[in-house]
Amino acid sequence: MNDLSHLKGTTVLVTGANGFIGSHLVDSLLSLDCNVHCLVRNSSNLRWLSSSKIQFHYVDLADPDFKIPNLPSIGFVFHCAGLTKARNRDEYFDINSRVCTTLYEQCFAYKESIKGIVHLSSLAAAGPGKDGVLVDEATTLNPITFYGQSKKAGEEVALKYSASLPVKVIRPPVVYGPREENLYTFFKLVKKGWGLQIGRSSKKLSLIYVADLVRAMMEVCDPRFSQKKTYFVTDGETYSWQEVAKTAADKMNVSIKALKIPESILVPIAIFFETLAIFSAKPALFDRQRMIDIRQSCWTASSENFFRDFDFTPQFKLTTGLACTLDWYVQQKWL
Ligand SMILES: NC(=O)c1ccc[n+]([C@@H]2O[C@H](COP(=O)([O-])OP(=O)(O)OC[C@H]3O[C@@H](n4cnc5c(N)ncnc54)[C@H](OP(=O)(O)O)[C@@H]3O)[C@@H](O)[C@H]2O)c1
Repeated sequence: MNDLSHLKGTTVLVTGANGFIGSHLVDSLLSLDCNVHCLVRNSSNLRWLSSSKIQFHYVDLADPDFKIPNLPSIGFVFHCAGLTKARNRDEYFDINSRVCTTLYEQCFAYKESIKGIVHLSSLAAAGPGKDGVLVDEATTLNPITFYGQSKKAGEEVALKYSASLPVKVIRPPVVYGPREENLYTFFKLVKKGWGLQIGRSSKKLSLIYVADLVRAMMEVCDPRFSQKKTYFVTDGETYSWQEVAKTAADKMNVSIKALKIPESILVPIAIFFETLAIFSAKPALFDRQRMIDIRQSCWTASSENFFRDFDFTPQFKLTTGLACTLDWYVQQKWL
């Protein structure tokens, strides 16, 4: 494993710093004595960013003319901001793609000092696997949702700038860990004795525990390592949703029954939530885009290239990662 000496004591800019992944990254960067500059907006909830060492810059990336802070130098940039839920296609593309051009264009001003830029993309940019085959870096990208298409468009911007800036693209699958609020709903059901199963029982997925992802993001920008530009990072396993539910249930000492939801009722449910969302400024809790995701049988990727090029071994598999996650939910009284 890399000693992360390339990062120690450097000046780092983090977008999406208050989010689930960004906030864990900030904690790790602080532990390396980095000078951490966080881009957040006035409305951002800063509950996970309590260190007095953090320097905040209030910037709304939705502003087409947003400016990154004027600093004497920047060593590394981690672009974690993104929209995983939006009201429409344009909103996804604005934040997940257009922002990248505005951001990386301004990075040119720091071209002399920047040693690495990590662009956080997603397995969704590549699309689902077919017939049980794991997606890898050689797979032709085939995103199937607005989210995935906007993440692919963001990657294209990042890769365009990689001709003159040291940009690396990381594509995680589903990320879980403390502070995460989407899978948390699934675990709440497990606690009540239900293992949610939508459609067929054989759906497979890749996962990564947030601490491993953060470690991978910090390693991938080491200028001494690989020249390749894009990597999938997973924990190296594939799981079924039943395995995830069973592992969580074992940890919580509950027995579960399958809560089977047929795919055929997803459309009316999605339309119901989309209709409610018309009267709200927030995206729908569930919509037909999310439904497309859920219907796929295989959201799995291979991380072999990353493991080999960086001599990387994930520290958490599902049992250990879930144990930490569920303990945290209990400590926080979320469960
Ligand atoms: N979580 C996963 O399973 C997963 C998997 C694959 C890829 N990813 C990617 O990882 C990245 C981070 O995801 P996450 O799970 O940490 O999501 P998250 O908790 O929702 O964090 C998203 C971050 O982006 C910021 N952001 C969104 N719109 C912004 C704007 N207009 N101006 C400034 N900041 C803005 C948010 O700030 P506010 O709090 O102010 O909204 C927040 O800090 C995303 O790019 C996502 O596509 C996530």
